Amino acid sequence: MTQDELKQAVARAAIDYVVDGEIIGVGTGSTANFFIDELARIKDRIKGTVASSEATAARLRGHGIPVFDLNEVTSIAVYIDGADEITSGGAMIKGGGAALTREKIVASVSKKFVCIADGSKLVDVLGKFPLPIEVLPMARNAVMRRMAALGGQPKLRTKAGSDDAFITDNGGELVDVAGLQITDPAGFEMQINQIVGVVAVGLFAQRGADVCLLGTSEGVKKLE
Ligand code: 5RP
Repeated sequence: MTQDELKQAVARAAIDYVVDGEIIGVGTGSTANFFIDELARIKDRIKGTVASSEATAARLRGHGIPVFDLNEVTSIAVYIDGADEITSGGAMIKGGGAALTREKIVASVSKKFVCIADGSKLVDVLGKFPLPIEVLPMARNAVMRRMAALGGQPKLRTKAGSDDAFITDNGGELVDVAGLQITDPAGFEMQINQIVGVVAVGLFAQRGADVCLLGTSEGVKKLE
């Protein structure tokens, strides 16, 4: 099976976690896009969604699925999203698709986090995938120095084919930190959160995934 077929398989399996009549939190990225396409088939069963990015909101609306502002919503039954890396304990690196801050906010108010990913995303130790950190633009270099002091190799994310900084949906910039071996994800998340100028770090450990659906050639495996 191709990586896209594995992503499609987990997106389909995630439909079992959709709660009828409720609001569903929807992530960002290629796996989340497959999920949105599956959700469209059963859109009449749900009240609506909260999106973790402008791109996700546009895709949901394109399918005629209602999208609510998070401020209009008191409770989200389940949040469904992909990951760049995940451990068997449910700690993740996210943000390869630049949506980490909104993903973290929507996940934080959701009762359950279901991670959907192809099997290549499962790792023993997080950090091979460069850790994304959203920063306020004026703090970019200060945060990069702090991350270098913590043993990482920080790099400003730029727009494709340009030296200009990539700008997130929130007007922030992204620093991707390579060379880390994150053996204490929750502790490291807390440490980075304390650096002034950091908007959010793409470590999802304090609030990790409750369930992970992993696409493998032997079928969809469930970790919880
Ligand atoms: C976006 C994310 C994505 O979930 C992550 O990058 C995985 O993407 P894909 O499903 O395309 O492999 O965190 O900010």
